[in-house]
Amino acid sequence: MTSPTSAEPAPDTDCEPAADSALFDKIVNLCKRRGIVFGSAEIYGGFRSAYDYGPIGAQLLRNVKDAWWRSMVQMRSDVVGLDASILGPPQVWEASGHLTNFSDPLVDCTSCKTRHREDQLDDPDQCPNCGERGTFTEARAFNLMFRTQAGPVEGAGAEVYLRPETAQGMFVNFKNILETSRKRPPFGIAQVGKSFRNEITPGNFVFRTREFEQMELEFFVPPAEAQQWYEFWLADRYQWYVDLGIPATHLRLRPHDADELSHYSSGTSDVEFLFPWGWGELEGVANRGDYDLRQHASHSGQKLEYFDQASGDRYVPHVIEPAAGATRALMAFLLAAYREETVNDDLRTVLGLHPRLAPYKVAVLPLSRKEPLGALAGEVLAMCQPHWMCDYDETQAIGRRYRRQDEIGTPLCVTVDFESIDDRCVTVRDRDTMAQDRVPIASLVDHLASRLDL
Ligand code: GAP
Repeated sequence: MTSPTSAEPAPDTDCEPAADSALFDKIVNLCKRRGIVFGSAEIYGGFRSAYDYGPIGAQLLRNVKDAWWRSMVQMRSDVVGLDASILGPPQVWEASGHLTNFSDPLVDCTSCKTRHREDQLDDPDQCPNCGERGTFTEARAFNLMFRTQAGPVEGAGAEVYLRPETAQGMFVNFKNILETSRKRPPFGIAQVGKSFRNEITPGNFVFRTREFEQMELEFFVPPAEAQQWYEFWLADRYQWYVDLGIPATHLRLRPHDADELSHYSSGTSDVEFLFPWGWGELEGVANRGDYDLRQHASHSGQKLEYFDQASGDRYVPHVIEPAAGATRALMAFLLAAYREETVNDDLRTVLGLHPRLAPYKVAVLPLSRKEPLGALAGEVLAMCQPHWMCDYDETQAIGRRYRRQDEIGTPLCVTVDFESIDDRCVTVRDRDTMAQDRVPIASLVDHLASRLDL
């Protein structure tokens, strides 16, 4: 795991908070120390650009995806979900344009034999590794898709690809979903899942990896409504990050210049976050027009259109696509939540995560391991577990246990002490204010529910 690379865009300097490069190392260290993210295959020396999410990270990632699904599917009656296959035949990627267009320009340095993305070089004539000038080969297009084969027989017909985006699953299932879900435009299909890209320059921890998770919505609209829905989704997606705790000072919307647009897009804006190395994309909101449905219709020979029986109109819907990265969002939420405070000459590290994202909502902490405290704490834990992910910790001094929970973002700690045995009350301690309230065990679940506000 390395510090931010120079290949990333430099931060803008006008009227905005400075990027904090020390924060990057703190987050990477916290992730390793507390079981949030590990380098993949570390016992074999590591596997570059792949990461494993540990007990706390797996729960955090799940919460990010659940928060997205809640907002995009559960809370909307015009969006349905999908879980499509990762492996796909070449026809899909030929129709989508990925076989021809999904590539980065690659140059080799003939002096030190390193490879670079031409479009990310500070100086197009100087190798950033060895410093030699004029040693680059001609740029060639490097396709980012991972290719493999299905079944035991190699050769033509066995070739398959790992999807580089989840989006195509929605387009190839458009007809199936139109026929089975009774939805009509405007309506959307949402999907969360793994995507794979053979990135030339992975880096900055989980910001750019070769295997990552996406959260994508394809929203199908009557062509005349495309612009209005594009604006709607831009505002909605920006607000999602704000509502989950990312300060507006660290978020911005940036429209793409014409030469940045993907091959399918007639307009894209990125939701960007101020990462420790500067502004970086969290999510792209694109107006894909009717490109994808028309491409798949002409390659498959199927009609991919909508017939409005009421008006007699027949049309190919246009698509607005908010496309977010779950693993990248997780990193942004960690960076935005991290803070250090001095309390009674002691440094406390807090992950001020929104309760919806916090890996554990509640930690149950018996003041002592001795009975009958353990049994009572077990009873309290059993009351809470059906409602929330809970941690249970009976080791070390109580102050250190609070600090451990602060560091992983647990909003509420429930302490069971010796008085609890007589008065059937526990102490509820707040992560952010550190205030402590005495609460009857009989009403504990209602009390915690009202404070967590999930
Ligand atoms: N279907 C459109 C699409 O895939 P994209 O901008 O290439 O658009 C969408 O990807 C989001 O997926 C990005 O905004 C980013 O959050 C995430 N993403 C893309 N490539 C990634 C990578 N190599 N590592 C981590 N996240 C990535």
